[in-house]
Amino acid sequence: MAKKVTVVGAGFYGSTTALRLAEYNIFDEVVLTDIVEGKPEGLALDMNQSRSIEGFETKITGATTTAEGAGYEKTANSDVVVITAGLPRKPGMSRMDLIGVNAGIVRGVAENIAKHSPNAVIIVVSNPLDEMTALAQIATNFPKNRVMGQAGMLDTARFTNFVAEKLGVEVGSVKTLTLGSHGDTMVPVPSRCTVGGVALSDKLSQAEIDELVDRTRNGGAEVVALLKTGSAYYAPSAAAARMAKAVIEDSGAVMPVCAWVDGEYGISGVYLGVEAEIGKSGIRKVVESKLTDAEVASLKEAAEAVRAKQADVLTL
Ligand code: NAI
Ligand code: 2OP
Repeated sequence: MAKKVTVVGAGFYGSTTALRLAEYNIFDEVVLTDIVEGKPEGLALDMNQSRSIEGFETKITGATTTAEGAGYEKTANSDVVVITAGLPRKPGMSRMDLIGVNAGIVRGVAENIAKHSPNAVIIVVSNPLDEMTALAQIATNFPKNRVMGQAGMLDTARFTNFVAEKLGVEVGSVKTLTLGSHGDTMVPVPSRCTVGGVALSDKLSQAEIDELVDRTRNGGAEVVALLKTGSAYYAPSAAAARMAKAVIEDSGAVMPVCAWVDGEYGISGVYLGVEAEIGKSGIRKVVESKLTDAEVASLKEAAEAVRAKQADVLTL
């Protein structure tokens, strides 16, 4: 069976994700869409022209779409769909400031995707992430395991990078974990962090760990403040692409993602950042691991904050 992935939104996040997916050379086709006429087709043409240099055969197709659904036929029967459509934040804005406008965009996109790719696994990246993931599930009416969001992979990668830089070690020797929301109630998990197999608390003082945790929580805003227009996309696209790869390869990789939580950690009925096993059905299962009491309490706090906002998206 031909393997097909669609990336909705050909902005910075979407176009870098499409190229990463194509360069994996594991899909037959990557479809890139946008509502700006010609933009996805132009980017696809450019990306296809890099194939002989980079040595991949995956074909990239650009498709201009409309809010009413024109153009979506090119996305038909995708195995995986990554939704990046929506506004990014500007300096001083929180992700939550985007909720009104992005809810309209994500709802429309999700409805069109459900019509044309009824069996797809959906990976949402549009912000505010946890709320847009919940909205995409409602708008598609897909089983909850087939809709997930990308945030934890990115926030964890940021934490890892900060720890590696602080200690002057290779990123490959550092393991970190970040759960919770992709927002104010993000939960970096120091008890699960190691450097060369040694606990982070044996390498850094509590004050130093707290500083890295804070920097991780503000990781997106730090990039936005420097760029002044738009938000991060290199690390975010790497994260979403890895999730799509795990789905299409049915790999069973365990990753921190935004998934429907149903009893784990004593939390139910909410999309939240947790570790989960990823395969062709989307989320195979949420993986509950040992956290400190304080970390579980923070996760529960995040769940309640996100639950309130996810209820709001029903009205948007
Ligand atoms: P961007 O502004 O570069 O691109 C957004 C694209 O979406 C534009 O090309 C726009 O024309 C397109 N678009 C708007 N409505 C559309 C529709 N109905 N159908 C198809 N395309 C549509 O923004 P960027 O940097 O690509 O970010 C995209 C989203 O990803 C933002 O909401 C941003 O906040 C979010 N983001 C999420 C992260 C995460 O970790 N979950 C990390 C970084 C960004
Ligand atoms: C980020 O964390 C803005 O959500 C985006 O970079």
